[in-house]
Amino acid sequence: YHHALRGAFFDITATVDSPDDIARHARYIEDGLLFIRDGHILSLSPWQEGEQYLNPAQGYRDLRGKLILPGFVDAHVHYPQTEMIGAFGEQLLTWLTNYTFPVEAQFGDPEYAAQIAQFFIDQLLSNGTTSALVFCTRHPESVEALFSAASRIDMRLIAGKVMMDRNAPDELTETAQQSYQQSRELIQRWHHRGRLGYAITPRFAPTSSPALLEAARQLREEFPDTWLHTHLSENQDEITWVKQLWPEHQHYLDVYHHYQLTGKRSVFAHGIHLEDEEWQCLHHSGSALAFCPTSNLFLGSGLFRLAQCWRSRVPMGIGSDVGAGTTFNMLRTLGEAYKVAQLQSYRLPACEAFYHATLGGARALCLEDNIGNFLPGKEADLVVIDPQVTPLQRLRISHCKDIYETLFALMTLGDDRNIVQTWVNGECAWRNETHT
Ligand code: GUN
Ligand code: FE
Repeated sequence: YHHALRGAFFDITATVDSPDDIARHARYIEDGLLFIRDGHILSLSPWQEGEQYLNPAQGYRDLRGKLILPGFVDAHVHYPQTEMIGAFGEQLLTWLTNYTFPVEAQFGDPEYAAQIAQFFIDQLLSNGTTSALVFCTRHPESVEALFSAASRIDMRLIAGKVMMDRNAPDELTETAQQSYQQSRELIQRWHHRGRLGYAITPRFAPTSSPALLEAARQLREEFPDTWLHTHLSENQDEITWVKQLWPEHQHYLDVYHHYQLTGKRSVFAHGIHLEDEEWQCLHHSGSALAFCPTSNLFLGSGLFRLAQCWRSRVPMGIGSDVGAGTTFNMLRTLGEAYKVAQLQSYRLPACEAFYHATLGGARALCLEDNIGNFLPGKEADLVVIDPQVTPLQRLRISHCKDIYETLFALMTLGDDRNIVQTWVNGECAWRNETHT
């Protein structure tokens, strides 16, 4: 083995179709030993005195007192929007015009893109996020910059160039033909290079012409194991606009479905105001949703229907959606997801919340065979958490009676201060210097 880690471990060992089944597959090992070899999990088991597989010369890393979880999966985020996080006062469409588009226009500059890409990766790691599905900008340079930064640490990252040919400023639009050509070149260059994956990324229906979605369809046909990543039914004005622009389609999702952009490895961000037929179409096509609570609250978009999502059996992951989302931190995002659920009388238990942030997110991205828990053979992406770094956390957690209460305290009180180490592909990729 290359590394042995001793500490407390929590994961969910199987994907589920009902929230009632999660606790049954939850595993908590209060004092466990995890072996890592060649970037993969070799085994996880309770600590035993005189561990036979421990090499005395090599020993183990003693992380007792810490909680080790599978690395978090961010199912929807925009790296170029990092610098405009928390922009004041607008809902989706004016937020895009006033804040987003001017910022994204800068990413044709490879040096600038490289600088923000590295900053973004560091933000993911310092928040315990080891995998993400990421929007870049219209510029191929933005994709180059992000994949280059991720490949330096062998991170499992999926991203793509934004495709957009109308209803945006000139410097951010392109022709459908150019979009096709540039996307195609990027797929050939980056898709399945190491742990990287390419997502065909039309921004959303309002910035797409029929020719652009046809280009996306053609790419998907040529490269069927790529991902498809876009936005869906986030905001009422957006939906009204889609109905005007695409009057021949039954509903918003039908625009994408018509171009065969639904299916496995298709991830639609938001899906807040979906009609029944859209839920059914998501289910039947095997498409997934990304629930982005901090974004939906910040832009005043609405409340994601978590109970409906389970009922319709639509795979779902949690997204930060930075820069409309207000944090990269998955603990804080889960805390907001809890409140979004509360407003609809859905009680989101900690084990379900952490499922969505790990294995459930992996499943939404069709990566459940690769990441999401500590089963043997999985890629060794993990986060080491100290649940008690503030006086309030110490007081609260001293009153927690089991792991579920501790996890729940983490999602209500936790943030990046709780992240001690983040491991990617079997190596420690980031450590918090204040915890030594
Ligand atoms: N819809 C289209 N583009 C965007 C974006 O950049 N952020 C969000 N939240 N929604 C969008
Ligand atoms: Fe988004």
